[in-house]
Parts: sequence; structure tokens; C-alpha cells
Amino acid sequence: MKSKDWLSRQNRDLYVKKAKKQGYLSRAAYKLIEIENKFRIIEESKKIIEFGASPGGWSQAVLEINPKIEITAIDLLDLKINHPQIAFYKEDYLKFNYDKQENYFDLILSDIAPNTTGHKSTDHLRISIMLFDIIDLQDKILVNGGNFVAKIWKGSEEKELVNKLRNKFKLVSYFKPDSSRKDSSEIFIVARNFIK
Ligand SMILES: C[S@@+](CC[C@H](N)C(=O)[O-])C[C@H]1O[C@@H](n2cnc3c(N)ncnc32)[C@H](O)[C@@H]1O
Repeated sequence: MKSKDWLSRQNRDLYVKKAKKQGYLSRAAYKLIEIENKFRIIEESKKIIEFGASPGGWSQAVLEINPKIEITAIDLLDLKINHPQIAFYKEDYLKFNYDKQENYFDLILSDIAPNTTGHKSTDHLRISIMLFDIIDLQDKILVNGGNFVAKIWKGSEEKELVNKLRNKFKLVSYFKPDSSRKDSSEIFIVARNFIK
């Protein structure tokens, strides 16, 4: 999408307006709130890791839902929220040192996304590679019984991703929040009850 088209769509978008008014750093916060309203996984979590956390709309929503939670947040870009319960790492998720975090998290959140090329299948492959990497980390960092939420853009790799998750979690669901643009191929995968 051209930046001019993106800007005019942002200006018309109800959730962008609502986010500004309610002080959320991104409209994405509403997607996570809808996910929580349906699945109730943040309220029962204690330590979470967020892949692709910037600017910080999800982190804000997480802390509102569960004010006692501890967040480890990773992004290449700055997080625009400072909070004593957020440990933020400005780095590539591939370079992060996960060794200290063995069996540490009870929830993995991923809204990570590469810069888009506009070529749907390329973008799908690029986000899928990131998700396969994150899924490979689960055995190390996620506790038994933990949960996982990730955004994906639909496409050919999706089936394999979901199959991998079905092998490791008791319940795997798809969810398209109302606040996710109808013309977007994004969908969220919610996997519950990790089997270590
Ligand atoms: C859709 S945004 C996340 C929005 C966020 N959930 C919020 O509510 O504010 C996707 C993020 O993924 C990050 N990202 C992309 N590639 C990354 C990488 N290799 N390592 C860490 N973060 C990355 C981008 O910098 C971007 O901030």
C-alpha cells in the first residue's frame, strides 16, 4: 500500500481514533483485548514474553488486564512506554539471550511482523519464518501448561504452523478480532495448555 493511501485509511479508521482518545499507543491494543475477552489467558498469567512489542499498545493492554504481570518485551524499535514491570530489550529476537529464561514464561505473545513488501506470499513467508523460530523456542522458555498467542498473515505455511502447535498444545484456535481490518489477511492463533 502506498504511504498516501495508508495515511488516509489511518485517518478514517475508527480504532485509530479510539486508540488516540483512550491513550493506547497502537490500535493493535484492541485486538489483544478482544482475544482476552474470549480466551481469558492474560488474567491468569504471571510472566509473559512479547515478541514485536513496539510501540507498546499490547504491553499497555496487558498491564491493564493484569496489573501484577511481568513483561519481557523485545523489539528492534523503541518501546514508547516505561513501566517497572516491563523489561524491554531493543534487539532482534534472534539475538536475544534466552538461556536465562528457561522454563520462565507462562505466556508467549507475538505480534511480530516484518516490514511488508506488498507481495502477499512473500510477506506471509517472512512472518512464518519468524513464527517457526518462536515455536522452536517454546520448549526452552515456556512452562508446562503455558499459552501462546500469535499473529499470522494467512497463506501456505499456516497449516504446518498450526500442525506444529497442535502437537504441543492441547487446544489450538483461530481468532479474527472485529478490530482487525476485514481486508487484512491477518488472523490470530491462540494455543493453550502447552505439553512439555
Ligand atoms: C505490528 S508491530 C507490533 C505492535 C505492538 N503489538 C503494539 O501493540 O504496539 C510489529 C513489530 O515487530 C517488530 N519486529 C520486526 N522484526 C523484528 C525482529 N527481527 N526482532 C524484533 N522485533 C521485530 C517491528 O519492529 C514492529 O514494531
